[in-house]
Amino acid sequence: MFSINTSDTDLVGLSTPDPLRYAFSRKKGAHAGGHMSAIAPERVQEELKGALRFASTNIGAARCLYIHIPFCRVRCTYCNFFQYASSKTLMSQYFDALVKEIRWKSSFAWSQSAPFQAVYVGGGTPTDLSSEQLKVLGQMIRSSFPLTADCEITLEGRVNRFDTQKFESALEGGFNRFSFGVQSFDNTVRLAAKRLDKSDYVMDRLQSMVRYNAAPIVIDLLYGLPHQNLENWQHDLESYLESGVDGVDLYQLIEMKGLPMERAVEQGKLPMPADTAMKATMFQMGVEFMAKHHQRRLSVNHWASGNRERSIYNSLAKTTAEVLPIGAGAGGNINGFAMMQSRDMDTYIHAINQEQFPTMGLMQVAKDAALTSAIKSAFDRGVLSRSRLDKVAGYSLFEALKPLFEAWQSNGLVDVDNHYVQLTLAGQFWSVTLAQNAIQIIQENSKSALSTQVIIDAAVA
Ligand SMILES: C[S@@+](CC[C@H](N)C(=O)[O-])C[C@H]1O[C@@H](n2cnc3c(N)ncnc32)[C@H](O)[C@@H]1O
Ligand code: SF4
Repeated sequence: MFSINTSDTDLVGLSTPDPLRYAFSRKKGAHAGGHMSAIAPERVQEELKGALRFASTNIGAARCLYIHIPFCRVRCTYCNFFQYASSKTLMSQYFDALVKEIRWKSSFAWSQSAPFQAVYVGGGTPTDLSSEQLKVLGQMIRSSFPLTADCEITLEGRVNRFDTQKFESALEGGFNRFSFGVQSFDNTVRLAAKRLDKSDYVMDRLQSMVRYNAAPIVIDLLYGLPHQNLENWQHDLESYLESGVDGVDLYQLIEMKGLPMERAVEQGKLPMPADTAMKATMFQMGVEFMAKHHQRRLSVNHWASGNRERSIYNSLAKTTAEVLPIGAGAGGNINGFAMMQSRDMDTYIHAINQEQFPTMGLMQVAKDAALTSAIKSAFDRGVLSRSRLDKVAGYSLFEALKPLFEAWQSNGLVDVDNHYVQLTLAGQFWSVTLAQNAIQIIQENSKSALSTQVIIDAAVA
């Protein structure tokens, strides 16, 4: 039996007539994480070589490739992903190192032992690479790694300076999915966020790439930015339909400390961004709008307009898929290790030139990582299934968590039956918080089960 404190409102939410806006006081961070233990820095190179030296023992498991391009022409005020300003010289040095890393990492037995199902070239702004670099990068990915016949190869970025010639080069290189950050189609919001280009241009480029009819085009929209209100948010949702793109992610703005936006708000140069209740209303508008227009829902915040958008990388990376990281600031996980590569350009280039892993942190993933990932991805899809949960856990975990699910149900966050926990609209808005709370309960109870076992073992001995 699990011990679950169902009167802890941080865990089960508040009993309120309006759980969408007020179930919890604030949203937890974007990632619900599990426990990991750090590998001593002096063992990192050896451990990673060991992990890649042999063919995967995990045959049949999903695997992806993530390549990071840490450059943007201008930093957006709300963004924490910014690393380096796009300069031709620096990007060319970086590209040379990236090519070396692709050659080196693809030469390991592990890399060649099974096909990759999805590749994501993300950033930063990968579309800031030149036409030639994009073509070479795509071709190198295709010629260096074994890929499944239907492998999704995504190029992330923005429409700024991504003209038809660049688009054609990227297609020629083999990219077959394009994800553009639009954030907002409102010019006041865009200007305040330091987004490049006016909305007419953004719309025109999107429509032109859609007309080209070569690959799925998807966009990101953000809600909660300064100057955003219900009126221009409605217009953003309508503009998504008008653009004709294949899919959309609706992300709520996460405010982080030390971002340019925070300073500008403090100095009175920008209005306050939306509070949690306002963002909840915007989420609701998004969900209702997508349902009204028959968009196919792929997760709590991602929709597709037709069948072309598959979003393979995003769904696999949230499960137990292994991810081989390439580039400064890239993160991944292989063979039970999670790793993050150095964000510092000099450190990264120096390491690659020496055929050393540019890893700044290597962690041994906890034994319950598969369970943690299964829970995160179920909450991200909006439904948790008893049979899948119990299968991954290896015991009747659904039953053990039932008091938590029932407390959530009485607070309007989920609907529970014998087979499924389905998130309500409110539960979808708080999905990351719910996933983290479920993981917390499991970890607390497995820790106490472990210490009870130690006490029993000691008593027996
Ligand atoms: C790493 S960015 C790359 C996109 C591309 N460089 C662009 O300019 O649109 C990927 C996405 O992260 C999201 N993002 C960035 N900052 C965020 C924040 N503070 N809160 C929530 N989402 C954010 C944006 O929607 C963005 O499209
Ligand atoms: S949103 Fe994109 S372009 Fe803007 S700073 Fe972040 S990564 Fe760079």
